[in-house]
Amino acid sequence: MNKLGFYRDKSNHLFVQDLNVNLLATKYGTPLFIYDAGLIEDIFVKIQNAVKNINGKIFYAIKANDNIGIIKFINNLGAGADVVSLGELKKCLKVGMKPNKIIFSGVGKDREEIAFAIQKKIKQLNIESEEELFDVIEIAEKEKKNIKIALRVNLDIKASTHAKISTGDEYSKFGISSSEILKVCDFAKKSKYVTLHGLAIHIGSQIFDYDLFSSTYSALEKLAYRLNKNGFNIKSLDLGGGFGVNYEKYNFHNFNELKKITEEIFLKKKYEICFEPGRSLIADSGILVTKIIRTKNSRKKSFLIVDAGMNHLIRPTLYNAFHRIEPIKLNDTRKNKVVDVVGPICETGDFFALDRKLQEMSKNELLAIMSTGAYGSVMSSNYNSQKNAKEILIYKGKDYLIKKELSFNELIKSHVIPNF
Ligand code: LLP
Repeated sequence: MNKLGFYRDKSNHLFVQDLNVNLLATKYGTPLFIYDAGLIEDIFVKIQNAVKNINGKIFYAIKANDNIGIIKFINNLGAGADVVSLGELKKCLKVGMKPNKIIFSGVGKDREEIAFAIQKKIKQLNIESEEELFDVIEIAEKEKKNIKIALRVNLDIKASTHAKISTGDEYSKFGISSSEILKVCDFAKKSKYVTLHGLAIHIGSQIFDYDLFSSTYSALEKLAYRLNKNGFNIKSLDLGGGFGVNYEKYNFHNFNELKKITEEIFLKKKYEICFEPGRSLIADSGILVTKIIRTKNSRKKSFLIVDAGMNHLIRPTLYNAFHRIEPIKLNDTRKNKVVDVVGPICETGDFFALDRKLQEMSKNELLAIMSTGAYGSVMSSNYNSQKNAKEILIYKGKDYLIKKELSFNELIKSHVIPNF
């Protein structure tokens, strides 16, 4: 067994790690998310190798997939985490992640979240506004506990990506504007318990323009240099995530560009460099298997109505996102047909693909919606009182049911967290 991710056997059935996806779907039912731990590990190692010469560290962006089994697996690989809520932070602690490997980002942390993070002595809080810093200083002083912070800056950089996931310009709510930075740094310096040790930036998600990443990182480094000249002590730079995934070409990863641009800027510098990849680490490792409930034709369209809906994968309707859709069994003898692949939810926006060419399919046959490991299950809901899809992780040739919401003890007891 040395194939990574999802592949076809000689008879054109979809497989993962020697396991037949069709049989997995029969065992667990559909809709079903299947993740390949081998591919996650392979990509993790690729990112790690790309950034190792610059002292780069990986903090997996939990928001991409917060299933406890996935977090546990990625923690075991040696990654830290970038969290954006108390819930994500607690999940990381539950799987045994060390607090000093956790960065807390997010534009709207409330006092309870800040106090918990300080008590747990996490690695750093990424501060997004002057007002947030006031709260952090007040809480740290009340608790008499130290906390390191990084300031997330907004350098007014516009990334070309979907408007809803672009975060780097001053029209977005994220980061502290460059005109405010010095004032905020001065303020942080006055506190006995809060130590300003880093700067952070994240200009958006699903970005492919490495020249833009390069100019962004370079601008951040220059800002750190200027601040350090002014008596501050910036030692750590958090470059965020955002590395684009090619949803059309499966498992097409190349972190050479990242290596090249970051080494150009940081190789001779002494910063700790943090990366927060989410999508690039996990998207391709997951598929959503769904069964065709029925087929239907109108005078204008042909529909495949499947048992997964926008409640399981909202990306197509929310961002007009493209996901490849593949029959679990490819059949060369069938004709192709142009169809809409839609779910059971009572909204016209409940679709996975419009006007997509697929081999002719019938009721009860299975489809795989590809590259759904990131921002898939994690964004799901129970809209229309639909049930959640089950999720399984394939680890060393075995399938493990992994769950999102159970307590850790329950997870261990019911063996839904693999004991690796
Ligand atoms: N760091 C911060 C501060 C972030 O806000 C994000 C993503 C990441 C890291 C990870 O970015 P990534 O490497 O995954 O691009 N739901 C959307 C994506 C939202 C991204 C939000 N922030 C989607 O399905 O496309």
